[in-house]
Amino acid sequence: MEKINAAITAVGAYVPEFRLTNKILETMIDTTDEWIKTRTGIDERRILKGEGLGSSDMGFEAVNELLKKRGISPEEIDCIICATVTPDMVFPATANIIGDKSGLKNAFGFDVSAACSGFLYALTVGTSFIECGRYKKVIVVGVDKMSAIVDYTDRTTCVIFGDGAGAVLLEPTQEKVGIMDSLLKSDGSGRPFLHMKAGGSLKPASTETVAAKEHYIYQEGQSVFKFAVKGMADVSYELMQRNNLTGDDISWLVPHQANLRIIDATANRMSLPKEKVMINIHKYGNTTAATIPLCLWEWESKLKKGDNIILAAFGGGFTWGATLVKWAYDTK
Ligand code: UT7
Repeated sequence: MEKINAAITAVGAYVPEFRLTNKILETMIDTTDEWIKTRTGIDERRILKGEGLGSSDMGFEAVNELLKKRGISPEEIDCIICATVTPDMVFPATANIIGDKSGLKNAFGFDVSAACSGFLYALTVGTSFIECGRYKKVIVVGVDKMSAIVDYTDRTTCVIFGDGAGAVLLEPTQEKVGIMDSLLKSDGSGRPFLHMKAGGSLKPASTETVAAKEHYIYQEGQSVFKFAVKGMADVSYELMQRNNLTGDDISWLVPHQANLRIIDATANRMSLPKEKVMINIHKYGNTTAATIPLCLWEWESKLKKGDNIILAAFGGGFTWGATLVKWAYDTK
């Protein structure tokens, strides 16, 4: 019997309307448009405004678009996996909340926590569900409402992050397309450099933790930068090597959008020209689990069946990885 591959058959996404520009940030903290642009590549990021709106509301929009584009009903979905570090609540899983809002009545769902690599981890899990032959339609969502955990008085983090959601549908195919390989890594000893100090079982929320601003992102930027530059470039190169691919064989690199300098270093290591690299960090900043599906969504009309695409990420944990996708369809 031919091997079953998991193909991406549709992409949906959502970004909130409000644009937090560098100019606005100049009025909030001691920074400049020039510093942010040259150090990160970011011009603006989207922020989800409004009471009572969480990550699930953005995930719901992305899933709805995906279902509409594929022309299928929500009842056909078997499973939804949501990658996020900003769940609506600690529990239940945001995947379940998106499933409820989107009418996925026959799907089971759960969340994956792997920070900026979350989408790649969730995609790999979803791929296994399809490849084993048990499930026919799996949705993988990457969503983060980073504005919920950003301290807008901390200039070292608040300029970087934004909100957004992206989702892909995985379906079985016996053609040689789809998710072809995935290389995932993690190293928990990296946790001191990027984490949230309180709100977990180690340090539950208290008036003291709130006063000490311990429910926000804590990042030692330079240390993370060093690990990210090496980690993302190395893992992408390793994935190319074990699949006997050179830069000429790759149609697109889809890097996690954390910092333009990290993206450039990865592209150089892979011998890829800028024209083959998806970059939208200037418009959305770092949306954590959403950056990669947001790129696929934006570039979807340019992708051709058979294109070799490498997705690559590095994030908190540390977690990092790369996935090789052979694109499965031409957009009509
Ligand atoms: O996606 C998850 C993984 N995360 C990442 O991959 C992020 C990796 N790190 C980075 O992207 C960069 O380290 C940052 C963008 C966070 C910071 O850039 P940097 O070039 O590493 O800056 P730095 O932290 O070394 O700071 C350089 C200077 C410092 O001033 P002094 O000490 O030299 O006087 C900072 O205080 O820049 C200052 N600075 C700022 N100045 C203006 C830091 N943030 C700002 C700011 N505006 N927003």
